[in-house]
Amino acid sequence: MCGIVGYIGTKKAVPVLINGLLSLEYRGYDSAGIAVLNSSKSSDYELDIFRDKGRVKNLQDNKDLQKSDSTIGIAHTRWATHGIPSKENAHPHTNNDKNIAVVHNGIIENYDKLRTFLSNKGYTLYSETDTEVIPNLVDYYYKKNKDFSEAGLLKAVADTLNDLIGSYAIGVLSNNFPDQIIVAKKDSPLVVGKGDGENYIASDIPAVLSHTKNFYFMEDGELAVISKDNIDFYNTFLKKIKKDLKNIEWDSTQSEKNGYDDFMLKEIFEQPKAVLETIGTSFEKDKINLPLDDIKFSKFNKIYIVACGTAMHAGLATKYTFEKFAKIPMEVDVSSEFRYRDPLINEHTLCIFISQSGETADTIAALKLAKSKGSTTIAIVNVIGSSITRLADYVLYTHAGPEIAVASTKAYTCQTTLLNILALYIAENNLNNLDDKEVKELASLKKDILSLPQKIEDALKTADAVKDIAKNIYKKKDVFFIGRNTDYTVSLEASLKLKEISYIHSDAYAAGELKHGSIALMEDSVDVIGIVTNTKILPKTISNLEEVITRGANVYIITDQTIDNKAFKNIISIPKISYMLSPIVSVIPLQLLAYYVAKNKKLDVDKPRNLAKSVTVE
Ligand code: M6R
Repeated sequence: MCGIVGYIGTKKAVPVLINGLLSLEYRGYDSAGIAVLNSSKSSDYELDIFRDKGRVKNLQDNKDLQKSDSTIGIAHTRWATHGIPSKENAHPHTNNDKNIAVVHNGIIENYDKLRTFLSNKGYTLYSETDTEVIPNLVDYYYKKNKDFSEAGLLKAVADTLNDLIGSYAIGVLSNNFPDQIIVAKKDSPLVVGKGDGENYIASDIPAVLSHTKNFYFMEDGELAVISKDNIDFYNTFLKKIKKDLKNIEWDSTQSEKNGYDDFMLKEIFEQPKAVLETIGTSFEKDKINLPLDDIKFSKFNKIYIVACGTAMHAGLATKYTFEKFAKIPMEVDVSSEFRYRDPLINEHTLCIFISQSGETADTIAALKLAKSKGSTTIAIVNVIGSSITRLADYVLYTHAGPEIAVASTKAYTCQTTLLNILALYIAENNLNNLDDKEVKELASLKKDILSLPQKIEDALKTADAVKDIAKNIYKKKDVFFIGRNTDYTVSLEASLKLKEISYIHSDAYAAGELKHGSIALMEDSVDVIGIVTNTKILPKTISNLEEVITRGANVYIITDQTIDNKAFKNIISIPKISYMLSPIVSVIPLQLLAYYVAKNKKLDVDKPRNLAKSVTVE
């Protein structure tokens, strides 16, 4: 989705802005632009806008922009929603007098009405965007209020925000006030980075992480006026407010490729460390230790896990541990469905929301709904300080470090690990629900969790074997993944990963469901990947795989079992672990498969078409 970067200080702004935009490229975009203030001969400032369709490289190649000595600027990468990707629709947008520039993330839902209002007032709108109404409305209120001071511009921005329905994170720059950037936010992320004699704005922390690790997280309805030495925060009524500065521990080199061809490959190989850090101190004592002491788990009669995409698959993968040990019925739902289906929630419901970014619009809405119905909410999030962490009653962090590739890999293994830990934590706090055998099983699963980093490390050794398989699969039109129980949930994740970055059609089926329809698709040369890690149901899945071979399919198996059956020629062996944790291990060759298939197709693995890293609009 769109990205915002802004800078005010003493350095040249253009390199800071361009580097910021480059580090936001992973979010996906189709045009980019920058607004800077250049001093003119008359000692006034000129607002100069540079924007173009396509890559940030176009801005890098723009000689006039590179000549700019400006020490203030705002920049944007646009992912088209209203209006095609074009120079005219690219941000920053300006008012008709061209002295107010705005970059905007989000969607203004009532833009049509506002365009008509502005046209009736004599304004011309040159683009097809919803954003262009913002600088023109600011201009309208600025003139209407007749307060031409700095405070007057802030008031005009606040008046404008009152007219907007929808979501926004905005940066406003005007050559009438060359020492400030105004920002505001509602339902779209925005952080203010604090430096020494310089300050930054960004839609995502990695954009400015190489300059500062100290951030203010803007809340909905807040505005800020940022100069090089000062940051003033205001609420909707323009009353000054205090905000806490947060230190982000991420290392800026974590946002670099460090010798890998792609972020996705780097992030796949970072998983042993990421999972180790996520397990962190939760196992320090005999009992699992999580910051959830004041929750009385015995009051819950239902658990919902709500998330999108890969994060939702992490929830699905852990339903088995929750129901076996926490002994509370659990339902996993997609945020966009949950939020509109009037789910049965009350104070006896525990709702767990999972999100790497902490900014996914549907998950945020689902969380707000659950809170409004009185349930207890726990968020499992990777990005510190993100919106979801500020909304949930309790937060558990995955310590995956920045995940840059659009395809989520290390976030999934960390989320799945942390969810298993949470399930066992609930079980340990309700131990009277477990019999002796189950208490022993719980202890054994805890040991298995501690062995995960090494098992993942071993699973990464399948890379060469997977690379070979990818050489066949990349030519295919359809690929199917099948499995049962946790193997089925990892099939769903494998299928999403493959289609997302290789554009090959793929589906995942519960192996036992094949006979109920999907087996009709099995014919000569169709590729089927079977995931088989649960000893108890091994013969069942194997027999389903034999059935698809009989119908002409090529079968590949990912397994931690010994499969002594001549019908299967392509077997990738992974380390053995409890079936409840196996998705965290079996997903490794499947992530690698998606990666190598996409590489064989010479695709941009980190930035797949039509996708964005963080889906901040519904
Ligand atoms: O940031 P979130 O975890 O909330 O994102 C959820 C999904 O958008 C995300 O997992 C998406 O499905 C990935 N691109 C999958 O690789």
